[in-house]
Amino acid sequence: MPARLLIEGGVALKGEVAVSAAKNAALPALAAALLTARPLTLTNVPELGDVRTMLKLLATLGARVERRGREVTLTVERVTSDLAPYELVSTMRASVLVLGPLVARHGSARVALPGGCAIGVRPIDQHLKGLAKLGAEIVIENGYVVARASRLKGARISTDMVTVTGTENLMMAAALAEGVTVIENAAREPEVGDLAVLLAAMGARLDGIGTGRIEIQGVPELAGAVHRVVPDRIEAGTLLVAGAITHGDVRVTDMVPDHLAAVLAKLDECGVALETGPSWVRVRAGERARAADIVTSPFPGFPTDMQAQLMTLLGLADGQSTVTETIFENRFMHAAELARMGASITTDGSIAIVRGVDAYQGAPVMASDLRASAALVLAGLAARGRTEVSRIYHLDRGYERLETKLAALGARIERRP
Ligand code: EPZ
Repeated sequence: MPARLLIEGGVALKGEVAVSAAKNAALPALAAALLTARPLTLTNVPELGDVRTMLKLLATLGARVERRGREVTLTVERVTSDLAPYELVSTMRASVLVLGPLVARHGSARVALPGGCAIGVRPIDQHLKGLAKLGAEIVIENGYVVARASRLKGARISTDMVTVTGTENLMMAAALAEGVTVIENAAREPEVGDLAVLLAAMGARLDGIGTGRIEIQGVPELAGAVHRVVPDRIEAGTLLVAGAITHGDVRVTDMVPDHLAAVLAKLDECGVALETGPSWVRVRAGERARAADIVTSPFPGFPTDMQAQLMTLLGLADGQSTVTETIFENRFMHAAELARMGASITTDGSIAIVRGVDAYQGAPVMASDLRASAALVLAGLAARGRTEVSRIYHLDRGYERLETKLAALGARIERRP
């Protein structure tokens, strides 16, 4: 039987917990190693399933990987393959992040179309449209994107919607293109900003980071760099909700509060007591949370990756809340599992109506995607009795030893092989 988590709920979490580096910043940063023949070192790479998958993929493309604990050095003296195979891409959609760097550095790429995943279809048409604007020849053959370009040329690109990895792919490709590229409607997520900081350290010339308009002056080649990956704002938010939902007193450290402003504002609206420092937030939740409405949107709006976690808190709030998911078409799978624990949630397309109940009952539940798994763990921490969360390989893709961090705060939680 695959690994699962056993949780005895009802303990108010107390203490301090440090956040790991962001999965969604580490993955593009690792892919950026393809852009240079020089060593690229990341000093705080988290132990995550998706990081292991990305390192495996990069090694097949010609990267020499040296790991010393959390410090990882990648050196791609020569790209020895341009193929990102289906069996790897289908397990991790973020593999698509090798597309831009491969075309820019190597002149060609064959990347399996990622296909859908639990939360939606996840197309990459904006990535392809942008690369074509930069001069890449792109065809789709047998489920693969085949892209070629002798030398990419700067262009003005406007994506039809904000896309995080689309912006990252195009930034990396533009960094080595000839001339100036402007990306309109660029994603402003902190992980995009962190990649820009890394690219600049490698010698790229970028303007407008953190705004919706990024300008990149291409350079002939990039150098190596040493970079510390930004803290994971979604893990930080998940740990804060753990403190709130158990009526505990938890200080989350090594984080960037500004990266979580929309979530902190929502927790405040729910009546959770928050104290914010330069790199920490303390959460105390005595009484029952108040109901609040959530609409997910691109940064700086409320992040879709925190939707399941907040829905879990709202499921116990005093009153009725509405949760509107505007980014992905199927990101309410946690609702059915929460209902098995006593939640009262009805979903209709992109809207969920959450009527707060007094308590969750522990139950055996099944994880479906990364953030839904986190939501089920949070529900288990608050529930009366025992909860068993199965298929936690979903959780291990994006959370580094979550159960260890929660146990250190007093949670009765253990991993069963
Ligand atoms: C990134 O996914 C994150 N993953 C996701 O985190 C996150 O949920 C998402 O951004 C939104 O913030 C990584 O950074 C590795 P998008 P990404 O392109 O880039 C549509 C997690 O839990 N779209 O911003 O794939 C798309 O279908 C993961 O850590 C197109 O239509 O998301 C979606 O509706 C889950 N065509 C919307 O745009 C495209 O070419 C936003 O997607 C690209 C996207």
